[in-house]
Amino acid sequence: MTGSEIDRMARADPNGPGIGHLAFWAQPEEQRADEFARLRALPGLQFVPFGRPVPFQRGQAGIHAVVRHADVVEASRKPKLFSSEPAANMVIDMPPWLAVYFDSMINMDDPRHSTIRKVVARAFSPKLLAKLEDDLRASARRIVDDVVSSGGGDFVAQVAARLPIEVICDMMGIPARHHDMVQRHTNTILGFNDPEFTGISRDYLLRHGAPAPWHIARITLRLLAAGRELTGLVRKLGQERIQHPGSDLISALVNANPDGERLSPREVGTFFILLVVAGNETTRTVLAHALRLFTEHPDQRELLLTDFDGRIAGAIEEIVRHVSPVVQFRRTVTQDCELGGQPLHTGDKLLLFYNSANRDEKVFADPDRFDITRSPNPHVGFGGPGPHYCLGANLARREITVMLRELFTRVPDIRTAGEPEPLLSFFLNGIKRMPFTISA
Ligand code: HEM
Repeated sequence: MTGSEIDRMARADPNGPGIGHLAFWAQPEEQRADEFARLRALPGLQFVPFGRPVPFQRGQAGIHAVVRHADVVEASRKPKLFSSEPAANMVIDMPPWLAVYFDSMINMDDPRHSTIRKVVARAFSPKLLAKLEDDLRASARRIVDDVVSSGGGDFVAQVAARLPIEVICDMMGIPARHHDMVQRHTNTILGFNDPEFTGISRDYLLRHGAPAPWHIARITLRLLAAGRELTGLVRKLGQERIQHPGSDLISALVNANPDGERLSPREVGTFFILLVVAGNETTRTVLAHALRLFTEHPDQRELLLTDFDGRIAGAIEEIVRHVSPVVQFRRTVTQDCELGGQPLHTGDKLLLFYNSANRDEKVFADPDRFDITRSPNPHVGFGGPGPHYCLGANLARREITVMLRELFTRVPDIRTAGEPEPLLSFFLNGIKRMPFTISA
């Protein structure tokens, strides 16, 4: 059977694009959700051609789609069988010259992973996060001051994109003059399928399903440039802070902790890229979708505003479940085994579809309903249980709480004023632009 025949078998609509084709991800959310519901009901795991073969790609040009909650949880819990190496954040295997910048702990198994996670986890302890709270509130206040004086505009640029980048840069001690550069390169890294960031025409991408090898070569060059500039900045700051340590995260990482551990300049660089990429677009995505959801569901807005402190924690978990900001991460099979009734072989690639697990009707009653009082809510939006569970989950929860509190207290009538413009991506459920107004 050819790849496209298998692809057709895996589709709800045999004439529509499969989940490995970018045109699938350009469809409205409901259509995508219907297809994943159909995949969840099929036995085993579906093998899907994904993207197009590229010159440095090894192994089969397809993935097994892990779409049920129980299977995503099991794969996340068993890192020895389902490895994050050689890459968890890319469907293709990372060539060594790209790994210099992007081979962070998210793509590592133990013992390399646990060594680095132990050093960096201190930065995310509840004590250190509490210290960030004042800065966080001050940033949110400034952003809402600007919202009030603007009266409306683009919610992503004016609100959602601003807070996460300010927080991460403040944490790392990156001076404000570099923030725009950091934001620009983050967009390049995460928008690698979107026409706006790649320069490839939308028509081409939707017709062919993925960039061509020559596009990938061009995108890779841009990734390299972004990686080089971001790590260059952090290395330079790292050198300075070995001489003159401050209270920021770069200082903490480059100077040995009480156990004598520290990160090498290269590790600090790749960790920084991981942080700006993992912590920036994800939180921005949640903030943008939060305004969309509370506009579309006035009853849920009412519920939240009548008891903000009592309901915000549950609301955030429900937004993350409903939106699934990160659509999928990859695992690679290390030995012949089975998952979800599907025999698997060494080297097989799996994509853990968090968006699908978070709508699994076996776990969530009426899964498409947005209900901020949903309980329990065992979503996997921050990853499944296991060693790679999101390190920044508590920071993200704090950022979203502080931002929504400031917004809904000072401009309770804020709402969207038109359709959001989605990012074209099978990795992030992102929003590029979304008009808003602050009057009812
Ligand atoms: C709502 C916002 C966020 C979502 C939905 C999210 C989602 C995720 C997911 C799904 C993973 C699991 C990756 C895997 O299993 O392979 C992950 C890992 C990670 N996240 Fe987040 N994330 C968010 C915010 C943040 C923030 C704010 C930061 C830091 C500033 C952050 C830093 C990380 C890091 C460092 C990892 C890798 C952990 C490891 O490999 O041990 N994330 N995130």
